[in-house]
Amino acid sequence: MAEHHSARIEFDPRFTVADVPERLFGSFVEHLGRCVYTGIYEPGHATANADGLRQDVLDLIAELGPTMVRYPGGNFVSGYRWEDGTGPKEDRPRRLDLAWGTTETNQFGLGEFMKFCRATGVEPNMAVNLGTRGLQEALDLLEYANHPGGTYWSDLRRSHGDEEPYGIKLWCLGNEMDGPWQIGQKTAHEYGRTADQVARSMRYIDPELDLVACGSSSRGMPEFGAWEAEVLTQSYESVDYISAHAYYQPRDGDFKSFMASAQDMELFIDGVTATADAVGAKLKSDKKINISFDEWNVWYQDAPTGEREEPWAVAPRQLENVYSTMDAVVFGSLMITLLRRCDRVTAACLAQLVNVIAPIMTEPDGPAWRQTTFFPFAEASKYGRGKVLRVNADSPAFETEKYGTVDALHSVAVANEDGTFTVFAVNRDLESPLTLEIDLGSLGGLSDLTCSTLTDEDPDAKNTLAEPTRVAPVANGDITVKDGVAYVELPAMSWNTIRIA
Ligand code: AHR
Repeated sequence: MAEHHSARIEFDPRFTVADVPERLFGSFVEHLGRCVYTGIYEPGHATANADGLRQDVLDLIAELGPTMVRYPGGNFVSGYRWEDGTGPKEDRPRRLDLAWGTTETNQFGLGEFMKFCRATGVEPNMAVNLGTRGLQEALDLLEYANHPGGTYWSDLRRSHGDEEPYGIKLWCLGNEMDGPWQIGQKTAHEYGRTADQVARSMRYIDPELDLVACGSSSRGMPEFGAWEAEVLTQSYESVDYISAHAYYQPRDGDFKSFMASAQDMELFIDGVTATADAVGAKLKSDKKINISFDEWNVWYQDAPTGEREEPWAVAPRQLENVYSTMDAVVFGSLMITLLRRCDRVTAACLAQLVNVIAPIMTEPDGPAWRQTTFFPFAEASKYGRGKVLRVNADSPAFETEKYGTVDALHSVAVANEDGTFTVFAVNRDLESPLTLEIDLGSLGGLSDLTCSTLTDEDPDAKNTLAEPTRVAPVANGDITVKDGVAYVELPAMSWNTIRIA
C-alpha cells in the first residue's frame, strides 16, 4: 500500500511574478511528416474548407487554445526557399527536403499559412532561412510579407491575391544554428554576426519587429552557455529574444527522473537568463533579453518514428509519437515551469501542433483526435490567463537519479482576470497520492473549488485511432474546505487544474 502524503501551498494576489504573456501558449507547424499535409491541410478531406484546411482539426485547435504558431521550421527552414510556396499552385516546384529526407510539394506556403492563422486566430511567428540562405532572402521575405505595395516583392504578394500586408511581427532568425544536424550550421561567432546583421537590416523595413536569435538546441549541447554568450555579445542590441529548445523522454527505464524533467527546464531557464544578463551587464545595457522557449515537449527520440524510412516520400509518417498518461503529467509539469518563469520566458511554442510529436492526431481521409498531452495545454491556455502569483509550497519529496531530491508537488497559481484563481498542480510521485492543502486566507473569502484531474491506473494508457477517448481529465470531487483551508486529493502521477471562485 502506497504512503499518503500532504503538501501545503499559500499565495497572495498582492505578490505577483508577472502577467502571463499572450505568446506563452504558442505552438509550432513545421513542414515535417504529416504536420502540414494531411494534418492541418488536406483539400480532399470531407471536412476541408475552401482553403483546404481541415475543419475537424481547426475545431480541435480552437479547443486547444494556442495563441501563436511558429512556421515553417525547425530544421526544414534551413534549406527552404520561401518563394517556392507562393503563387499559382500548379507552378510551384517540388524540391528535396534535406532536413527530413522527403519531397516538399510546396502546395502549402506562406499565403496558406496566413489563412490558417486567420482561421485559428493565432499570431504568426515566421522563421527565416539562415542555413542555405541569408540576409538578402530574409529581407525579400519581409518585404513580401509586410510591405503594403509599390515594390517588386510587395506587388508580387498582391498579384498572388493578398492585397493587405500580413503584418508579421515575430520572426526567428534561423533555427538551431549550433546543431551539427543543421543545414548550414554555424559557429557562435559566425551566427551571432549574421543574426545581428539580419536583425538590423530587417528593422530598416520595420523597426517594430520582435526578433529571436537562436540559443542552444538543448541544455546538453557542448557549447551551452558559451553559445548564448557569444551570440548575444554580437547581437544584444538588435534582437529581443534568445531561443531555448528542450525535449524530454524516459531513459533506461528511469521514470522517477523523467517525472522530474521540469528540473532540467528550470536549470535551462536559469542558465540562459544568467548568461543573457551577464552579457547585458558587460555591455552596460539597460535592455533585457527574454527567452523564447520555442520548442518544448516530450519526444521519444530513440523510437522508430518513420524518419527517412522511405527516401524522398511526400508527407510520410514521421515522429508520430503516441503519448501516454505519464507523458501528459510530465508535459503538464513543463507547462507549469513556463508559467512560473514567465517573467523571463515571454514566448514559448509547444513543438509541434498536429501529428508530429503533437497534441492532435489525424488520419488522412479519416478522423482527428486528442492525445493525452492535449489536456494540460488546453486547460493551461484556458485558465492560465492573468497574473502568475508567487507560491510558497511545502511538499514531500522523492529521490531521483538525475536531479537528486525533488518535490512531489509542482504547482503554480494564477490570479485570473475575472477575479477567480487557478492552481495547476502535478503530483510527480509515481506511487503516493497527496492531499494538497491550499490556504485560502488571502483570497477575499473565495471558497468554491472545483478540480479537473488527469491520471490513470495504467501510466501507459494512451488515446489512439482505435480508442481515441481512452484518457481524458475527470471532475475530481475529492475536495473539502474547512477553516479557510481547502483539501484537494491529488492521485499519484496526476495533472490537476483547481479553480477557486
Ligand atoms: O521539432 C522537431 C525538430 O526538433 C525541429 O525541426 C528542430 O528544430 C528540432 O531539433
